[in-house]
Amino acid sequence: MTSTDVTKKLPKDFIWGFATASFQIEGSTNVDGRGKSIWDDFSKQPGKTMDGRDGDVATDSYRLWKEDIALLAQYGVKSYRFSLSWSRIIPLGGLDDPINPQGIAFYSNFIDTLLENDIIPFVTLYHWDLPQALHDRYGGWLNKDKIVQDYVRYAKVCFEAFGDRVKHWLTINEPWCISILGYGRGIFAPGRSSDRTKSPEGDSSTEPWIVGHNVILSHAYAVKLYREEFKAAQGGQIGITLNGDWSMPYDDSPQNVEAAQHALDVAIAIHQCFILQDPIYLGHYPDYIKQMLRDRLPVFTLEELAVVKGSSDFYGMNTYTTNLCRAGGNDEFQGFVEYTFSRPDGSQLGTQAHCAWLQDYPEGFRYRYNLPIYVTENGFAVKDEHMKPIEEALQDNDRVNYFKGITNSLKGAVLEDGIDVRAYFPWSFVDNFEWADGYITRFGVTYVDYKTQKRYPKESAKFFIKWCGENIEAG
Ligand code: NOJ
Repeated sequence: MTSTDVTKKLPKDFIWGFATASFQIEGSTNVDGRGKSIWDDFSKQPGKTMDGRDGDVATDSYRLWKEDIALLAQYGVKSYRFSLSWSRIIPLGGLDDPINPQGIAFYSNFIDTLLENDIIPFVTLYHWDLPQALHDRYGGWLNKDKIVQDYVRYAKVCFEAFGDRVKHWLTINEPWCISILGYGRGIFAPGRSSDRTKSPEGDSSTEPWIVGHNVILSHAYAVKLYREEFKAAQGGQIGITLNGDWSMPYDDSPQNVEAAQHALDVAIAIHQCFILQDPIYLGHYPDYIKQMLRDRLPVFTLEELAVVKGSSDFYGMNTYTTNLCRAGGNDEFQGFVEYTFSRPDGSQLGTQAHCAWLQDYPEGFRYRYNLPIYVTENGFAVKDEHMKPIEEALQDNDRVNYFKGITNSLKGAVLEDGIDVRAYFPWSFVDNFEWADGYITRFGVTYVDYKTQKRYPKESAKFFIKWCGENIEAG
């Protein structure tokens, strides 16, 4: 790993904090007027989470929010990234459905308390917890005409209620997971599967691409509304957060070099090519995707395209790992590319995390984008951490090493490569409900004892706080 000049510091306005999402931490799913989300029942179905546990309690943060903010203040963060639960704010979700004053009051108090503690709110409008009612009524993300309107109205309610205090908005978290995992592989809510590898004859494999398309449109129309009606008065920024894992060829053979590009075409470009106003983005679906999907790929009208292009003030980037790519395989959702972490000589790319899809490879962090970047997530789940006694789990050396590598790459990207990275949010502030993994995969820099809901700072929290103190100019 190339090490960057330790004497140089990131500028004083560099933002750092930790990230979470509503369904992963809040619990209290049936109090104060909250409506159901698609994860409520899905996580209760047998076999949907690895440990058979649901999100009803999570880290109990809906009740313990004051303690959580006190801990964030103790950590000295500049900012906190969290998401709003759509079904707490509009329990049935739709355009004409009533707003829940208790939902508004909860987040309003939360935001006020963050600000009283000098913590900047970074707010995600949608982190995967669609109101169940919208799914039941018209198929949720599958129904373009309805979902775009309903999402934009929800966004409007939030801009009106919180936009006087929130200056950093993220419309949608990781469209790739919403569409491919929720409607392709079926492992995330609402659990619909269009997986051709399971039913090669099936013709049902349009859903993930329709959903991806509708997610992009919902994002773009919400941004249009914000720019037209709120931005001038409220003065905030708005953008989307995309999966930004990197793909590298397994070796330098032409077919594997091409495979890495194909993987990027699916995993990244399918969303970014429209949204980001940057010469490297195409403004149309990549040719490889067009060829792969043919008439299964939805088409934007010219009016829609105009709204979608350039619809992010920044690139919100969630980045965790790098994949080595080999041509072949039968997985359309990876562009018919095989992923591996084993190099041709048999060595591993980096330390293996608890989840199979993640190894520690900080070099992958340093690739180039021209837009301002907010790194909205980045983190590591230590192998078997859930089975360790607390004292041992707190010594999370693999996570500390991961952050050492990444923070080094972050400094290199900003100070040596000239990349405009403006913020960095490790995932996650606390261990939490890790979707289909339930509670057995832990990403937190704070250990949560789920029996008592007590929080304990891990070594990684201490490392990170110290690193920020030493590597960001004071001011
Ligand atoms: C990305 C998602 O946004 C977040 O919800 C999840 O917990 C982390 N990745 C870790 O898998």
